Amino acid sequence: MARIVRKQALNPSVTLLEVEAPLIAKKAQAGQFIILRLDEQGERIPLTIADFDRERGTVTIIFQAVGLTTRLLAGLEAGSVIADFVGPLGRPTELPQGARRVCIVGGGVGCAIAYPQAKCCKGQGMTVDVIAGFRSRDIVILEEEFRAVSDHLYVMTDDGSWGERGLVTEKLQSLIAAGIRYDAVVAIGPIPMMKFVSRTTEPYGIPTLVSLNPIMIDGTGMCGGCRVTVGGEMKFACVDGPDFDGHLVDFDELMNRNALYRDREAREVERHPCRMEQMARRLAEFQG
Ligand SMILES: Cc1cc2nc3c(=O)[nH]c(=O)nc-3n(C[C@H](O)[C@H](O)[C@H](O)COP(=O)(O)OP(=O)(O)OC[C@H]3O[C@@H](n4cnc5c(N)ncnc54)[C@H](O)[C@@H]3O)c2cc1C
Ligand code: FES
Repeated sequence: MARIVRKQALNPSVTLLEVEAPLIAKKAQAGQFIILRLDEQGERIPLTIADFDRERGTVTIIFQAVGLTTRLLAGLEAGSVIADFVGPLGRPTELPQGARRVCIVGGGVGCAIAYPQAKCCKGQGMTVDVIAGFRSRDIVILEEEFRAVSDHLYVMTDDGSWGERGLVTEKLQSLIAAGIRYDAVVAIGPIPMMKFVSRTTEPYGIPTLVSLNPIMIDGTGMCGGCRVTVGGEMKFACVDGPDFDGHLVDFDELMNRNALYRDREAREVERHPCRMEQMARRLAEFQG
């Protein structure tokens, strides 16, 4: 069991939770994730380790409430417990040897996953540019945190209500065209965004890492649920990733596989609002 020690709403649908998990905090590295289950009958969901504090023995997760489990998780308060909180899972991010200047590109809640990458690169003495993209000002997250761990921060919004108007790929293209030589680009966000960032960097031969988010169940390479095609080979994102070479990923296949259960997931929430109440009640009982 893992106790929540801090809760912060970052925007109307994105929540930060700091959770007591000393063994995970001791080993966690940027790029890794945890799998949690709210109670004994809950579903397992993977969330990236957005930050960790080895001394306090805590791990921070940042998530968007998109469906049943993330909505219930967002409803928990400091002091509540999460039944299972397992990790660190996956391989830590590995940038090309000797990389000196990197560009970290985050999209929406993907910025929560991009933040530890930026922090880690900065900690290793690299020059770090961050491009953080959002639909509009009201959902901008982690701006100050990114500023603290980057040399240049470019906030982009689709509607121009904050930062610069435009897509993250447009900004990246303009920085590269202006002559900045990146040793690596890391892109984390919606699948189409990662696909088009990879397409932007490919003609320049800039190594590009993307963090993939297929459906995961066990997180240990046993179930095959998270398989993705990279360079024509089948990989399991939970043990071979979640980071992969963006120039080799079959993004269209990933998009199709992730859409497989979308109708069913929507029905779970819409047709059975009572299910949410039932689960919330069960969770309250579990909290004792
Ligand atoms: C390695 C990894 C790291 C992730 N890190 C973060 C993070 O830091 N912050 C964040 O907001 N989200 C993250 N996600 C996505 C997060 O796991 C899903 O949003 C969550 O599982 C949704 O569950 P739900 O029950 O609330 O919604 P549902 O209604 O069940 O699903 C909504 C959507 O979430 C995805 N999803 C559902 N179940 C799973 C599952 N078991 N595994 C993966 N995706 C699923 C599907 O695309 C689905 O369409 C990550 C995913 C992966 C694979
Ligand atoms: S989640 Fe089961 S093999 Fe990766």
